[in-house]
Amino acid sequence: MEQNMTSLIMIFGATGDLAKRKLFPSLYRLFERGKLSERFAVIGVGRRTLSNDEFQQSIKDSVTSALGEKDDIEEFVRHFYYQSHDVADSNSYSALKKLADEVDEHYQLEGNRIFYLAMAPEFFGPIALHLKSDGLTDVKGYKRLVIEKPFGHDLASAKELNHQIRTAFSEEEIYRIDHYLGKEMVRNIEVIRFANAIFEPLWNNRYISNIQVTSSESLGVEERGRYYETSGALRDMLQNHMLQMVALLAMEPPISLTTDEIRSEKVRVFRSLRTIEGDEVKDYFVRGQYDAGTINGKQVPKYRDEPMVDQESNTETFVAGKVMIDNFRWAGVPFYIRTGKRMETKSTKIVIQFKDIPMNLYYQPEKMLNPNLLVIHIQPEEGITLHLNAKHAGGHLDAQTVKLSFSNTGTNAMNTPEGYEKLLYDCMRGDATNFTHWDEVAYSWAFVDKISNVWAKEKADFPNYNSGTMGPDAADQLLEKDGFFWWPVTDLDVDTCK
Ligand code: BG6
Repeated sequence: MEQNMTSLIMIFGATGDLAKRKLFPSLYRLFERGKLSERFAVIGVGRRTLSNDEFQQSIKDSVTSALGEKDDIEEFVRHFYYQSHDVADSNSYSALKKLADEVDEHYQLEGNRIFYLAMAPEFFGPIALHLKSDGLTDVKGYKRLVIEKPFGHDLASAKELNHQIRTAFSEEEIYRIDHYLGKEMVRNIEVIRFANAIFEPLWNNRYISNIQVTSSESLGVEERGRYYETSGALRDMLQNHMLQMVALLAMEPPISLTTDEIRSEKVRVFRSLRTIEGDEVKDYFVRGQYDAGTINGKQVPKYRDEPMVDQESNTETFVAGKVMIDNFRWAGVPFYIRTGKRMETKSTKIVIQFKDIPMNLYYQPEKMLNPNLLVIHIQPEEGITLHLNAKHAGGHLDAQTVKLSFSNTGTNAMNTPEGYEKLLYDCMRGDATNFTHWDEVAYSWAFVDKISNVWAKEKADFPNYNSGTMGPDAADQLLEKDGFFWWPVTDLDVDTCK
């Protein structure tokens, strides 16, 4: 793998929210940790007219508000330049090329370029085409394209976008961001699975009864109504983050830890997803939209009253589904996934529920023993908890649930790099493992399109869950009809575990 950290990073959308909140602080953290070589530079590209000084001031503000005052901030921002730009105008690209060549020369960047598209998706294709036709990708070093979601709106639009960017970049040069793949505990799934003799032998349909993946948010749609109305929870969260977590949970052990091997095992999971279509959709998937309600003691409005949202909106802010993976390992094991806005709490957790043992001698009718659970806490707390049954201290032979916990908080958390920091670093090193390959994108859209096609045709009975709850009742019934229930995420917190 290349380890050449010498690079010119061009950020399109440099005055936008993502750049300010995530990218600049992440770059600073890499700088602070000595992970950036002295030979790096950033050109911020945006529509607004800004001087280099003004741009550098905005970088300082963004780093200070995320990380506090830093002594070496002046040294850091000296590497930043700004270019005002019209994405549709070739002259703009010529000016950008001129600046890029000068900066490259000044820092001896060896023609290594990363183009980071942090802007509205309709510009992704046109920018990539211009980068090629106006000569910006014509370099002697490496060239890489980092592209934010959404990658298309459905399979057809994703294919079109892919076609456009592939005219300028090869698949190996494209880094499609799924920021969940930058999360510490999402990356840990593979290690937990493949480095522990006690889990891997049980990781199949003989010992696991079901797997539950919840990613709940307490925030509403905020200022993103315009985008969200065209997206909904299915496209915004499930097509990418949720299915990526399922793939990591379900994949076969790769033969080695190379990018190609890991990605190809993940793709095999996507290929095994049971297609859910037509009338089946209502048996496997539930959609919801939030009504008004109370969160943390504060009254919040319903989705339809949010800015830029249609009063009759049919957009789902919640989705729960039963995903089946029709392969030898997983046949018969439901993967239940749910995600939504304005839910009770902000939490991402994975619960692996093991089957009951065949004859449990400690079973008492009035006191069911809990099944063994392995809980992977993705956020806000990071850790793992294993729920076991053990003798009640002092009692006769009564069993009770005990929890073995590992929490990243405290031990590793201070040094845990933020997701974007890891992803930027990976990209600079040329490691595409934690970015989504086109095949993963294509299979996941094909899966999701079948569901959205059905939903687009039928008006839902919205709103159907109160803000501050865990979604509509139908999401509970989805599991109840299989004899399961959602493990309450608030009871599973790693810090409350003994
Ligand atoms: C983004 C979605 O991809 O993920 C947002 O577009 C969502 O709607 C966000 O809020 C959730 O990310 P996280 O890291 O806060 O769980």
